Amino acid sequence: MKRILITGGAGFIGSAVVRQYIAETNVTVINVDKLSYCANLDSLGDALHHPRHRLERVDITDRRALERVFRVHRPQAVMHLAAESHVDRSIHGPEAFIHTNVTGTLTLLEVARAYWNELEGEDKTAFRFHHVSTDEVYGDLGPEEPPFTETTPYAPSSPYSASKAASDHLVRAWARTYGLPVVITNCSNNYGPCQFPEKLIPLMILNALDGKPLPLYGRGDNIRDWLYVEDHAHALRLVLSRGRAGETYNIGGRAERRNIDVVHAICDHLDHLQPRPDGQSHRTAIRFVDDRPGHDRRYAIDCSKIERELGWRPQESLDSGLEKTIRWYLDNPQWVERVRSGAYRQWLDLNYAERLAP
Ligand code: NAD
Ligand code: DAU
Repeated sequence: MKRILITGGAGFIGSAVVRQYIAETNVTVINVDKLSYCANLDSLGDALHHPRHRLERVDITDRRALERVFRVHRPQAVMHLAAESHVDRSIHGPEAFIHTNVTGTLTLLEVARAYWNELEGEDKTAFRFHHVSTDEVYGDLGPEEPPFTETTPYAPSSPYSASKAASDHLVRAWARTYGLPVVITNCSNNYGPCQFPEKLIPLMILNALDGKPLPLYGRGDNIRDWLYVEDHAHALRLVLSRGRAGETYNIGGRAERRNIDVVHAICDHLDHLQPRPDGQSHRTAIRFVDDRPGHDRRYAIDCSKIERELGWRPQESLDSGLEKTIRWYLDNPQWVERVRSGAYRQWLDLNYAERLAP
């Protein structure tokens, strides 16, 4: 494939995928992103001004604009990452999640279908619509239950995961009803450089560096399965180029941890890399706060299908990945400053002021 249209390519995972395509392949990337609050063009690094990178500032709910993008750039595949992605925001305001994740995916599917219908021969059979989704569509697991597989029934808990589940259903329906050649991936929690600091790991790193409290929901014993973002980007590229049309692939890090253990690990790294001025451990800043409503207890992914069929394995351990991530945030204060807009401060007030009130 020479021309791939990527939606959400200025976000956390999308920018890692774009950077890899530009640095490691000859692919031209058409980056469709509306540049919402969490997008950051700095995350694209050298890829931003590369001649094989074309940025299209377009909202995926804007059908006319999408039609123009397909007409002008003639993509051979679509990798769809654009989404509202933060669970806590979906609890405070679900509408935006339905609009982008459901209506936006519907609009993209319809524009892609009309475009694909006009293709012929090898162009038509080789075309792919790759929908990037999440393990949260499967709901949550008890402590002893086996990890999610590709056939685990859907049971989403939050407005975010319900909107992602709805979008997965649309994509499967477009494959079955119209024959659109789709692949779907469902991945566990990502972490790494360039993640917007509303998510657990970057929020804890930046709060610790600022000497602020580290707010853990509930008792901090919810479990997530962590994957380094560059490993996810490799998996996505592999599925797009070699995954079988109509298939779903689960992607995970085989790294289940309680949130408290992740935050302890961050504090321990920071105690070496950036000790607190008062000589105390960063762990002393941990606060247990009101839980997230509907908080999923545990996620874990069985990624044996992608390992077996496509030979993918995560390369980074959680410990080495966390250290790299912390060093990245320490070394990139400009990136951090750029995302700390008034809007980010308003979010911190909305989600944490009451939780952290004395
Ligand atoms: P992100 O929030 O960092 O980035 C989302 C990007 O989409 C941003 O650049 C934003 O500007 C863009 N966008 C949002 N609404 C848009 C619209 N209407 N039109 C065009 N662009 C729009 O998200 P992320 O963490 O990089 O996640 C990317 C995808 O991967 C999402 O679909 C998410 O559901 C999925 N996913 C994320 C994780 C994770 O841990 N972060 C795990 C599994 C799956
Ligand atoms: O599993 C994949 C999903 O992972 C993705 O689909 C989502 O886009 C992504 O945001 C992520 O969802 P989570 O809700 O698991 O991620 P988050 O970083 O928000 O929270 C991780 C865990 O940490 C969760 O159990 C809630 C907890 N948490 C989070 C925040 C922001 C806290 O205890 N305190 C916090 O301040």
